[in-house]
Amino acid sequence: MLQHKRILLIISGGIAAYKCLELIRRLRGQGAAVRCVLTKSATEFVTPLSVAALSGDKVYGDLFSLTDEHEMGHIQLSRDADLLVVVPATANILARMAQGIADDLATTVLLATDKKVMAAPSMNVRMWEHAATVSNLGLLRHRGIEILGPDSGDMACGEFGEGRMVEPTDILAAIQAHFTDEGRLNGLRALITSGPTHEPVDPVRYIANRSSGKQGHAIASALARLGAHTTLVTGPTRQNDPSGVEVVHIETAREMLAACEKALPADIAVCAAAVSDWRVAQEADQKIKKDGATPSLSLTENPDILRTLSQPGNDRPRLVVGFAAETGDVIEKAMPKRANKGCDWIVANDVSPETGTFGGDTNQVHLITKTECESWPKMSKQEVATLLARRIADQFHPPAAAE
Ligand code: CTP
Repeated sequence: MLQHKRILLIISGGIAAYKCLELIRRLRGQGAAVRCVLTKSATEFVTPLSVAALSGDKVYGDLFSLTDEHEMGHIQLSRDADLLVVVPATANILARMAQGIADDLATTVLLATDKKVMAAPSMNVRMWEHAATVSNLGLLRHRGIEILGPDSGDMACGEFGEGRMVEPTDILAAIQAHFTDEGRLNGLRALITSGPTHEPVDPVRYIANRSSGKQGHAIASALARLGAHTTLVTGPTRQNDPSGVEVVHIETAREMLAACEKALPADIAVCAAAVSDWRVAQEADQKIKKDGATPSLSLTENPDILRTLSQPGNDRPRLVVGFAAETGDVIEKAMPKRANKGCDWIVANDVSPETGTFGGDTNQVHLITKTECESWPKMSKQEVATLLARRIADQFHPPAAAE
């Protein structure tokens, strides 16, 4: 519940602005007080009247309106909020935030605030991938702004790709997580692996897999949000570095193991990476040429990072969590995998192509511990991450103690 929490929504002018109405309704349903600032272009997508009716409050929009400034100065708007959420966050408002531009009420409040800020980007895939947006997001994350999503999928412009705003339920979950879980993992260290590994064949070719890193990166974000000092060791992915997380970029399984060992000691380890099981025994130092014969690759096994971290010893994290990417009888295959790897929990998921899990935005997982197996409904990878981080926090500080 969000009883007595004061949320300031900054609504900018994107097609996803209509989704704010559902978010406001859900936030108020949870007991939150919602106040909204609309940019001028946001009013082209949602009317201030609908926003005011749903939020039950006056809607703010004009920096230079004498009445608005008199009743509620931009500093006061920030002072009176516990959390600011920019939703949708267009490429334009993200750019203005990154550059510290304050040319309307929304950006002035964002520049004047010392409160936690979340932003849910929403834009066309090419705008999302543009170097300017990438660098603006890097800056904002570095400053501790929590970026929610975006998802990928069909877009209002008729294209397909990344840039679609996350659903209001995901934004609500992140807001709830912020209030209920804040600080629960303070003082603990977490180590996460994510993404694929690339195993070189020669200077231009490598062996890899389809892992997107979405789940592992979301888990690192969720643990950091709970206050854990979090290190993410990641193979090559298209994911942005999460806010508030120390990120180590590697390519091969052996580099991943070395980076993990360097990040120890840790209290929590979550191995979500799709580590390549094998590497080429002898990497060619020159590009292999087509000389008529078909080359054959001789492979050798890679180190098992999860098994190594699970080994008993002084450096063993207190809780080690693995993932089991399976096809077919997921639970039957994952249970012995947990025991065999020596980890405490295993999160099993079905990665058959028809599930769309690999690279997709949703996941349906089973949490397998030493004593039980719990099946979670299909949900977004961010929600899986939030729930898993909560379960991890319960392990260290049982819920009653966290109140
Ligand atoms: N894992 C690891 N290092 C490896 C291989 C896997 O850390 N060299 C970890 C993964 O990050 C995951 C777990 O082990 O947490 C299980 O990975 P998975 O690919 O499902 O299993 P494998 O051990 O590779 O076994 P198999 O492919 O035969 O199912």
